[in-house]
Amino acid sequence: MVGAKNSVLKLMAAALLAEGRTEVTNIPRILDVTIMSEVLRRLGCDVVADGDTLVIDVPAEPRTEADYDLVRQLRASICVLGPLLTRCGHVKVALPGGDAIGSRGLDMHIAGLERMGAEITNEHGFVIASVDRLRGADIVLEFPSVGATENIVTAAVLAKGTTVIDNAAREPEIVDICAMLSAMGAQIDGAGTSTIVVDGVDALRPVTHRTVGDRIVAGTWAFAAAMTRGDVTVRGADPAHLDVVLEKLASTGAEVTRYGTEGFRVAAADRPRAVDVVTLPYPGFPTDLLAPAIALGTVAEGASMVTENVFDARFMFVNELARLGADARTDGHHAVVRGKHVLSGAPVRATDIRAGAALVLAGLCADGVTEVADVHHIDRGYPDFVPQLESLGADVRRVTVPDVELPPAL
Ligand code: EPU
Repeated sequence: MVGAKNSVLKLMAAALLAEGRTEVTNIPRILDVTIMSEVLRRLGCDVVADGDTLVIDVPAEPRTEADYDLVRQLRASICVLGPLLTRCGHVKVALPGGDAIGSRGLDMHIAGLERMGAEITNEHGFVIASVDRLRGADIVLEFPSVGATENIVTAAVLAKGTTVIDNAAREPEIVDICAMLSAMGAQIDGAGTSTIVVDGVDALRPVTHRTVGDRIVAGTWAFAAAMTRGDVTVRGADPAHLDVVLEKLASTGAEVTRYGTEGFRVAAADRPRAVDVVTLPYPGFPTDLLAPAIALGTVAEGASMVTENVFDARFMFVNELARLGADARTDGHHAVVRGKHVLSGAPVRATDIRAGAALVLAGLCADGVTEVADVHHIDRGYPDFVPQLESLGADVRRVTVPDVELPPAL
């Protein structure tokens, strides 16, 4: 399994913390890596892809401004905030604005950095932050935000003194970035728990780091197997990162086999049984697998209740599923899905990465042809999606070429 999108983008930003040549390996061939590479280049880094390795050469004095034209394409660009502020004492990053899955504020990122002594203003569409040197602080997050945890940790590693983050996010991608930071010389305890303690150091050194396998891509293939009465083996993704997901799939009737920390197999002989799903921060059921879970519900035996607790607008794509004849209704944070034996192929439109993948899976369970438009969303997060599906026996083809060249042809 290739590296996780939601890890690699942060690892790339963390490279900014040390002058010199950082190598991030196991990079996925996705559009978001291309855009993040451009963000780093504009900050003065030299970024070159060599196979599945990205070599990032960081100058002694990086530039500290990230413009709107890139940040609006890649919300995760905001993760340069912590590294640049702590290393350079100044940073100006465009505000990403809203996107298709909800309002997604930055208040916890900003409050955390302010507690560490940063002066932060919001002017003309930019977050502008400055400080002589950040100092350690006790920070309690209102919600275990992945992005806020990452920005605060990457800032705290070069702060003066100790930072304690309570109610921190516990995602495997947080553990991955903390592992890379520790190899760079940072002092971090508690990654993967709700309390992360960071003792600031004076400088960090560049390293080579392998990106953790993508549990969301792995989980998407697991849903594909359960929905299509298929049999899929995933290697290079730790099943422990998908505990709740694999339990759910077992409840649908699929046979789930785990191979230690190396991978897993999902095999389904019958139509899936409906299961209820509630998304929560890790280790709960991931919001990034909400769309495949709803897609499964549309062809399952029985009715499922799906509850989204992380983002406020992730149900937008349910209207697209309705075009395939799905019986799914939403009310606030809940969706009720009544499964049908078969869906009915139709033209639909991807509204975000995960919705795009889920619509393709639904199309596999539909009579006739389903045409999914706006597949650039899928390119953002799923490497070689169509060839991988074809290799699993799906009748699928791509009719448009990607807008932008994907890595490794960076
Ligand atoms: N939030 C705030 N204020 C903040 C920060 C977050 O209100 O200061 C809210 C958000 O609006 C949202 C919730 O808290 O409702 C969760 O946000 P979080 O910060 O945890 O998410 P994120 O860092 O913006 C990352 C992933 C998402 C994934 C979430 C949750 C990246 C680049 N993105 O987003 O991935 O869904 O964590 O696990 O890491 C995807 O890959 O499709 C995707 C959307």
